[in-house]
Amino acid sequence: MVTTCFNNKQFKFDSLITKLISISMWYRLALIAFFSSTLLSCSSNTIDDVVEPVIIEPEIVTYQNIKFVFENICTECHSNPPQNGAPMPLVTFDNARAAILNRGLLDRISRAEGSSGLMPLGGPRLPQGTIDMMVQWNEDGLLEN
Ligand code: HEC
Repeated sequence: MVTTCFNNKQFKFDSLITKLISISMWYRLALIAFFSSTLLSCSSNTIDDVVEPVIIEPEIVTYQNIKFVFENICTECHSNPPQNGAPMPLVTFDNARAAILNRGLLDRISRAEGSSGLMPLGGPRLPQGTIDMMVQWNEDGLLEN
């Protein structure tokens, strides 16, 4: 009687433990699933955060990428007709292309700050990145689009 009772209790205790263990196993599995999904989404967010703000230079530089320089800076003098003693307009794609091919445009914008003949006349020198893009435009074949 006593033994049976004890056994019965023992049995109940055992099955309770088994239940608890299996609950805690599910709980742990759920936790692992939750955290690993959080970690995965975290890491992909991080990659997006790193990749998105990077400004990617166009693979081929065309006139469209650098015409803002002519429009905003050079046409102050190299308008059509030219002003302030400038010898030619830099208004159109053909103007700009011809100036690179026949008038030493790349040399003029690449000269050191303060040296004579530097364009834009009277400075300041264009940012190096802009000069590099102009050089790249030439290397990429002076395309319009
Ligand atoms: C403030 C007026 C002014 C601005 C702005 C200006 N230029 Fe000039 N540019 C001149 C004058 C004046 C000359 C002629 C004197 C000389 O050759 O240095 C000239 C000459 C040139 C020449 C040589 C032409 C030749 O046949 O010898 C090139 C190339 C040139 N400019 C390109 C540019 C470019 C590109 C820009 C813009 C980044 C620019 N210039 C901005 C006034 C200007």
